[in-house]
Amino acid sequence: MALKKKIAVIVGSMRKESFNRKMAHALAKLAPETLELEIVEIKDLPMYNQDLESDFPESWKQFKESIDAADGILFVTPEYNRSLPAVLKNALDIASRPYGKNSWNGKPGGVVSVSISALGGFGANHHLRQCAVYLNIPMMQQPEAYIGKAEELFDENGAIKNEDTENFVKHFIDSYARWVKAHTS
Ligand SMILES: Cc1cc2nc3c(=O)[nH]c(=O)nc-3n(C[C@H](O)[C@H](O)[C@H](O)COP(=O)(O)O)c2cc1C
Repeated sequence: MALKKKIAVIVGSMRKESFNRKMAHALAKLAPETLELEIVEIKDLPMYNQDLESDFPESWKQFKESIDAADGILFVTPEYNRSLPAVLKNALDIASRPYGKNSWNGKPGGVVSVSISALGGFGANHHLRQCAVYLNIPMMQQPEAYIGKAEELFDENGAIKNEDTENFVKHFIDSYARWVKAHTS
């Protein structure tokens, strides 16, 4: 059997009860057996500062190594003030450096945005896509995943309550598996 593709999952919320983290777990549960999803934590990464590049902090190195080792990157993020959360932008910046050693380069990407608003984090989703252009992350275009009304989504065990939403999330992760296959040898 072919080896599973390793997918680094980046969650853009640091909140303990984060709906986006619950969605990341739901995606891992629904993923086909060709993918292995693992959350790579970003909350303890020191804020990017170019002065630190001469002596790269250990946590930055470890984070870059996790991204280097991944076959693909799946972002699951809330929207903050119509854009992506600072902690996620920080992670993007860190692994893009030093210049010429962009760890994101060429890794097939996917993005799910989860929000309490009916707009489903559209602004964050698309600002992230803008960064992905420069970072050279080939981002899956379809299906798009803007998931709203997050507070109604999960039961007390973190499972998706609504069958239609679960079917859509399954469709998304199956499509992403095909996207990863098409962009990796
Ligand atoms: C600083 C801040 C800004 C926010 N801005 C938006 C926003 O622009 N659009 C939106 O849909 N929700 C916004 N929200 C609400 C989030 O959708 C909500 O807090 C959500 O639960 C965050 O995701 P999480 O549960 O994964 O932490 C904002 C929340 C915070 C704390």
